[in-house]
Amino acid sequence: MLLEGKSAIVTGAGSGIGAASAQLFADHGATVLAVDVPGKDLANTHKGHDAITALEQDITETDAPKKIVQAALDTAGKLDIVFNNAGVGGGGLNAYDMPDDLWDRTMAVNVTAQFRLIREAIPHLREAGSGRIINTASVMAEGTDYGLAAYCASKAGVAGLTRNIALEEGRYGITANYIEPGAIYTGMTEKNFVNDDIADIWARKSALKRLGKPIDIAKGALFLASDLGAFVSGHGLRVDGGLMLRV
Ligand SMILES: NC(=O)c1ccc[n+]([C@@H]2O[C@H](COP(=O)([O-])OP(=O)(O)OC[C@H]3O[C@@H](n4cnc5c(N)ncnc54)[C@H](O)[C@@H]3O)[C@@H](O)[C@H]2O)c1
Repeated sequence: MLLEGKSAIVTGAGSGIGAASAQLFADHGATVLAVDVPGKDLANTHKGHDAITALEQDITETDAPKKIVQAALDTAGKLDIVFNNAGVGGGGLNAYDMPDDLWDRTMAVNVTAQFRLIREAIPHLREAGSGRIINTASVMAEGTDYGLAAYCASKAGVAGLTRNIALEEGRYGITANYIEPGAIYTGMTEKNFVNDDIADIWARKSALKRLGKPIDIAKGALFLASDLGAFVSGHGLRVDGGLMLRV
């Protein structure tokens, strides 16, 4: 039980990495506020997990940070952990073909919403004395691929944001780290990995010769959220099965 008595927010908890993390955190004793967009049937996803409360909320809405933090406080009376995990793929267009609205939406979900939720949570994380911020970036924070200009820019933004928050909030006992998942079979990647040939190519690219599962990333998040990661801050944790070892 690595998170006994802790209160956590997990965004993007209706699917993939966020869903697995919300349940792993709860299994380790945390009270979890699971956040995802309306219509994701969050309550059903986490049925039977009594320590998980569902909040259907688009994280990019102006009042989203206030509503999310207040819901966590209403549920648990305090806030120890923010796992900013919700994200979108960015549309798959090269920069030359990228319309402003797609660029803006990618930044709004993947970076700006993380920043705004962190800002709202900071007073409560300071009060906790050992607050934890974990942000989902991607190996694409460092990498490149065709059609990923907006996505790569947003994930590099997550890395920069997280390092700076780590610097600024360290004096309050808060750690801030980001995770760089590799190729993980989730809602976001299903349309590609449902094709066995594509799945096989990505599995073979990694040293461990398989695609990642949401629980692989959840375990990395648990490490950073728990006391095991108490002296880790400003770090980008690659959880990619060795995908990035060969370029
Ligand atoms: N799957 C991969 O291979 C991979 C690799 C690197 C990074 N990531 C990152 O992991 C994170 C989780 O993605 P996943 O792979 O589990 O995909 P997913 O699609 O299964 O889950 C993402 C969740 O975020 C939610 N979301 C999107 N926009 C939102 C918004 N505005 N408000 C609230 N919720 C919103 C979605 O509804 C979805 O449930 C993302 O940040 C993604 O960029 C995934």
